[in-house]
Amino acid sequence: MKVKSKKSQTAVPQKRSSRLSKKPRSLSQQTHVIATMEKKIARLNEWRRRLAALLKYGKQAAVMTNLDDLLLLLADQAKTVLNAERATVFIVDKKNQELWSKVATGTQTIRVPLDKGIAGAVAVSGHLLNIRDVYNDPRFNPDVDKKTGYRTRSVLTAPMFSAKNDVIGVFQVLNRKVGGNFDQQDEELLTLLSEQASAHVENAQLYQEIRKVTQETIIRLAAAVEYKDQDTRAHLTRVSQYAAFIAREMDFAKEWIENLRLAMPMHDIGKIGVPDAILHKPGKLTPEEWVEMKKHPRHGAEILKDSDNELMKMSAIVALYHHEKWDGSGYPQSIKGTDIPIEARIAAVADVFDALTSKRIYKPSFSLEETVGILDKECGSHFDPDVVAAFHRCLPKIIEVMKMYADNPNQAESVQLPTC
Ligand SMILES: [Fe+2]
Ligand SMILES: [Fe+2]
Repeated sequence: MKVKSKKSQTAVPQKRSSRLSKKPRSLSQQTHVIATMEKKIARLNEWRRRLAALLKYGKQAAVMTNLDDLLLLLADQAKTVLNAERATVFIVDKKNQELWSKVATGTQTIRVPLDKGIAGAVAVSGHLLNIRDVYNDPRFNPDVDKKTGYRTRSVLTAPMFSAKNDVIGVFQVLNRKVGGNFDQQDEELLTLLSEQASAHVENAQLYQEIRKVTQETIIRLAAAVEYKDQDTRAHLTRVSQYAAFIAREMDFAKEWIENLRLAMPMHDIGKIGVPDAILHKPGKLTPEEWVEMKKHPRHGAEILKDSDNELMKMSAIVALYHHEKWDGSGYPQSIKGTDIPIEARIAAVADVFDALTSKRIYKPSFSLEETVGILDKECGSHFDPDVVAAFHRCLPKIIEVMKMYADNPNQAESVQLPTC
């Protein structure tokens, strides 16, 4: 097909040239030169567009640490640079022998077996594949086309290598929008793209791994307090998610929200320094016992202080200020209003909501209506009105999590910190 089209393109000027040979050659030559120049300019403009896109996306990708977001950005980049209708970046999951990716909506993960399909063939062989008619290729799986009504014609797939030269993923683009199939220039460009992307992907994977280890350490550290306190691991899970929902409603940056979500399980870590007789007392505490109990924010801040890490800094703030009140009647410093760090103001609403809706050794659980009524009543005295307003906006999501991670001794053991 490609050869045929090349012949037909060159045949026309040759015939015209012989027919017009008696006319002044200069006009014909000029016309030909202009047409050639125009084509070259168009090609140069196209390259300029592609290189500008490469540069623009390259800068964005370099600072991206969230792997899911990075994969969507890289797919968008491949689509733009190669003028393709669709693009997907797959990552190799060696453990499960699969390739996985995020679809354009960003919420769904797709997984395919590593040894199946065109993407799988490229991942296994490490060689680029440019297939011009996929329906004639036995490796092509038409199931997605059948489901979605989309018609795949041509597929260009390039491997992505790690610094150690292992295939860590594949770049795949479908159906070139103009000019027929993907050509050699497209192959070179996609290879360049995947080389550029591999370092970003490896960085993001490393970052994700570190966060996973940090998250697990936090949960285990916070769970150590369970040996002394009656709060369950489910309480830690729920308050983390409630705080993240509220922060998202208040339009905080994604990374800040993620730090708050991870910092929340440590809000009561200081209870490790409170005597068991006080923590486990079923009845009311004496004034002296209250003095001891109210020391737990300072104990927590002591445990978490002096770190350069943003997450640890936020954890120390949440631990120290989560019992402060908007009107200044809280503890340990009795600061008020916006003097209380916002992360602690959010933590207060999330923690009190969960404490009220849960059964504790010293009290039964309150109903949802009663709890919301208490929060509303204490809005402007105990709680920041902006935080309470955000809490109301995300209440349906909070109720969902509350039901999903309800207190249950068996479930609590297997509870994981949900992702935002
Ligand atoms: Fe506390
Ligand atoms: Fe708590």
